Amino acid sequence: MLSIDPSKRSSLERRICDGDLVIVYERHDKVKAVRVQNGSDFQNRFGVFKHSDWIGKPFGTKVLSNKGGFVHLLAPTPELWTLVLSHRTQILYLADISFVISYLEVVPGCVVLESGTGSGSLTTSLARAVAPSGHVYTFDFHEQRASLAREDFERNGMSSLITVTVRDIQGEGFPDEFCGAADSVFLDLPQPWLALPSVRRMLKQDGVLCSFSPCIEQVQRSCEVLGADFTDIRTFEVLLRSYEVREERMIGTEGVQDSPVGSLPRKRRQCISRDVNNDSKEITTTTSTIIARPCRETRGHTGYLTFARLACS
Ligand SMILES: C[S@@+](CC[C@H](N)C(=O)[O-])C[C@H]1O[C@@H](n2cnc3c(N)ncnc32)[C@H](O)[C@@H]1O
Repeated sequence: MLSIDPSKRSSLERRICDGDLVIVYERHDKVKAVRVQNGSDFQNRFGVFKHSDWIGKPFGTKVLSNKGGFVHLLAPTPELWTLVLSHRTQILYLADISFVISYLEVVPGCVVLESGTGSGSLTTSLARAVAPSGHVYTFDFHEQRASLAREDFERNGMSSLITVTVRDIQGEGFPDEFCGAADSVFLDLPQPWLALPSVRRMLKQDGVLCSFSPCIEQVQRSCEVLGADFTDIRTFEVLLRSYEVREERMIGTEGVQDSPVGSLPRKRRQCISRDVNNDSKEITTTTSTIIARPCRETRGHTGYLTFARLACS
């Protein structure tokens, strides 16, 4: 169950129960969603972990396998869900998601329309942002994707905040029942410009649209149409650079080596080796430093985010 109630965030209050969804965390790029079932096991390269050992422990606990290996059991959040969900489509990641939620001004109580649902990565974060009294109505024309997304929202506990509907939004637009009711609309469609006349009708006065497109040609085409009814049209590309910060040992034979850029010298140890006559021969210096460098797997271009506010006619 994803946590949407800030008053229940205290980890001491949140103990793992039979039936809970937990995120098994090995490393930031090795995470898995697991449903706790008394009597079941979780296995990885570190050994076998018994679910029965997890029940009653606070979220965040480090648990041991039969071989002494460990993992951490984290409470699910939309950010972690994005890392563990099954990819049925391209998905939005944290950098784009946070920017979208902030620039779309999504707050508790908002009504948000979205298309397409895809793998439900953005939808899950939108749902937490509108909780507890708002709602996300998400549309995808692909029946199987819509139904798998529905199952995922049941599984991660967000289904009361999300309605998934099968509909061709480029062809039919959003349903008329949402006319003038949406605080914001998000599009991740191949031809978003086809949906813009409908978006205009759905938005409340002053409502905001965001359209995500991987190619700049899609942005140009959308902006051509947006000019007629929208104002404050802005396009962004969000580029995130993550860093690896860790301790590294360096061995030198002549004094202390220069620190690499971005590192701080920390510990220094000298070792004097001697020849047969017990005369000192060479001084070896071991230095431990904390190095910081951009991660190799840093993601580059994902797409362009175009925002526009409905103009008052
Ligand atoms: C890239 S995925 C969306 C991913 C989603 N934003 C996420 O974060 O998981 C695009 C989705 O749009 C859907 N789609 C494409 N054309 C559509 C249309 N005309 N109407 C509704 N959905 C459509 C596709 O089936 C696909 O699931």
